Amino acid sequence: MKRLLLLAFCSVCLHAMKGQGTRLALAPTPPMGWMTWNQFQGNISEQLIRETADLMVSEGYRDAGYEYIFIDDCWQGGRDNHNNIIPDPDKFPNGMKALADYVHSKGLKLGIYSDAAQLTCAGYTASLGFEEQDARTFAQWGIDYLKYDYCGAPNDSATAHRRYSTMADALAKSGRSIVLGICEWGQHNAEVWAPEAGGSVFRTSGDVRDMWKDVTRQGGMGILDIINITVPLQPFARKGCWFDMDMLVCGLYGKGGPSSDLGGVGCTDTEYQTQMSLWAMMASPLAMSHDLRQTNDRTREILLNKEIIDIDQDPLGQVAERRILTDEMQVFVRPLSEGRYAVAVLNTSDNVLPVRLDFASLGLTARYTLRDVWLHKDVKKNARQWQGTVERHETKVFVLQKS
Ligand code: GLA
Repeated sequence: MKRLLLLAFCSVCLHAMKGQGTRLALAPTPPMGWMTWNQFQGNISEQLIRETADLMVSEGYRDAGYEYIFIDDCWQGGRDNHNNIIPDPDKFPNGMKALADYVHSKGLKLGIYSDAAQLTCAGYTASLGFEEQDARTFAQWGIDYLKYDYCGAPNDSATAHRRYSTMADALAKSGRSIVLGICEWGQHNAEVWAPEAGGSVFRTSGDVRDMWKDVTRQGGMGILDIINITVPLQPFARKGCWFDMDMLVCGLYGKGGPSSDLGGVGCTDTEYQTQMSLWAMMASPLAMSHDLRQTNDRTREILLNKEIIDIDQDPLGQVAERRILTDEMQVFVRPLSEGRYAVAVLNTSDNVLPVRLDFASLGLTARYTLRDVWLHKDVKKNARQWQGTVERHETKVFVLQKS
């Protein structure tokens, strides 16, 4: 009896370890790339994807780590008479295989989108009941990532867990390594079951809007709203199953598209910089979403800041903890590789904030060399504290290394 129990226990452990190993292999660090939805919604085409792929390379995004192009909803053209899912022939006249080949030839990867019900959020053909067939199709096309949405599906967590596991199993059998992105908007306890279900990332909130916070109270999610929803999930953080805080809105400036709904009037560059900072502190995927053909210098500078990207992609894979929370300020600490720490100081108030931060109050008791990753310079040596001002909605990010 004991032996039987031990065997059963070992097989559970092995299963869990296998899950963990696979996930880690699929997304050892948070996936980075560019996603069609926020700016383009249904206005997508193979030409847009090709042009974006070209820009990802020529503008240095690929080399900075943005490796995926994620095609979101509205690419589908129904099913053929063998029930194989097909792309819209007007938007993708050469088919997905040719497009994936092109994207791969640029040293990039291709993501696609489906939903765990009969129809997607925008009302297109989805994968419920066709999981294995669709996974095989995606594999044949050369797809590397699947964002799997949850519109039109039952509201209980058990069903959500099951439907995502079914797709993860189908992908695992598809013959190709395909990352699974869970997208149930933080509404069905994915923080508990996502790793076991085979997800490599899971969304923690409703859709990001291009705004600082939901001042108009229409229920949309601004940058600060998503920070406040995601941070308390920290105890559930698992390396290889990342908190997906949704797309970066940097560079959108309220230009339209779904991210401009529900009060999405646009943000200041300082606020976009805060989004980049906190997404990196929380080890979120970094998915740009503005039109890469129209990028100004400030947007480029924010999105291509190698030092902040290094925090996001740090190989230790830890997630920041919020150590200070007041009405005006939040301070986060993220342990990094090589014994370093990232410390972020966020001013949530509408005024300039003078700050004196004793590192000991964060549990960091040594003396440190302080590198400001937005200024790209060491600002202090042998420091036990930092003193300075933080602009309205700004985030200062420092890397602390023991002196
Ligand atoms: C949901 C998702 C969004 C996007 C749309 C597409 O709202 O949360 O990120 O994929 O569906 O319809």
